[in-house]
Amino acid sequence: MGALIATWLMAENGAKKAIDLLNAGKPSHKALIELIKDIEDDVHYKSVGYGGLPNREGVVELDSAFMDGDDLSYGGVGALKNIKNPIEVAYLLSKEKANNFLVGQGAYEYALDKGFKPCDLLSAASKKIYEDEMSKLDDLKAYDGHDTVGCIVVDDKGKMCAGTSTSGLFLKHAGRLGDSALIGSGLYVDSAIGGASATGMGEDIMKGCLSYEVVMLMRTMSPSEACRVAVSNFSKKLEKLYGQARDISIVAMNNKGQWGAYSNIDTFSFVAAGYGEEPKVYLFKKGKDDHPFYTLATKDDIARLQALQR
Ligand code: GLY
Repeated sequence: MGALIATWLMAENGAKKAIDLLNAGKPSHKALIELIKDIEDDVHYKSVGYGGLPNREGVVELDSAFMDGDDLSYGGVGALKNIKNPIEVAYLLSKEKANNFLVGQGAYEYALDKGFKPCDLLSAASKKIYEDEMSKLDDLKAYDGHDTVGCIVVDDKGKMCAGTSTSGLFLKHAGRLGDSALIGSGLYVDSAIGGASATGMGEDIMKGCLSYEVVMLMRTMSPSEACRVAVSNFSKKLEKLYGQARDISIVAMNNKGQWGAYSNIDTFSFVAAGYGEEPKVYLFKKGKDDHPFYTLATKDDIARLQALQR
């Protein structure tokens, strides 16, 4: 048995596989990697793994990280080209005594050394979108209805882990890194407390180290309250400083398997399963005084979200 939470509807299928593994007694990291690989492998998802949208030069560059909540070990890859499952590379890096965060060519060579096979990550569909959009290059912004997969898992021994994977902003500068692979920003987990993971505009999320902030708040607050306080306060600060806060959404789970989420956008979906539960797709909603509530996604919601994420 175990529990998990992951960003966006796209995590639904992988979450089912992950819960099956947890129910079969597998450890949290196996479940998390299964969930994230399910998305990385699916050519239809344009913001993660194979089929992700490319940078300005037409090259897919992937960012990913893994963190172990028991010993706080962490591994990350940034701007990794031609490797389909960066979460597995990040996991291996978390086991190293040094060189835990590798980018670009160094990350690629590490993956090859570990036996990963190179592959072309740019699908025909993503190439076509790139060619169409290059002609009208606009402000860079987070994807609508999908983005980074960020996930927190706790297993029946109370061991927690967190992971992320993304192709980053569409048409980003070559070599650009966002929050997703950065410990403390895109993810953080401590099995003594809980874990959190972020999705949205990396340039804003990084300014607040928001995943670390949420985990620290969970020492005295529920996951839902910790997410609300962190996202809401930080969005207000950004508004004061810059006149706007760009997209920020966070999911979190404590070491009892209780979960929460918060967002400064209207359409934020996520998948969650408490201990002994099947994963379900939820929508975040803002209620009175900005307090969050979560509704189960209806068939119509899912159809609308699917249209956005594919
Ligand atoms: N949150 C994904 C990115 O900014 O790259």
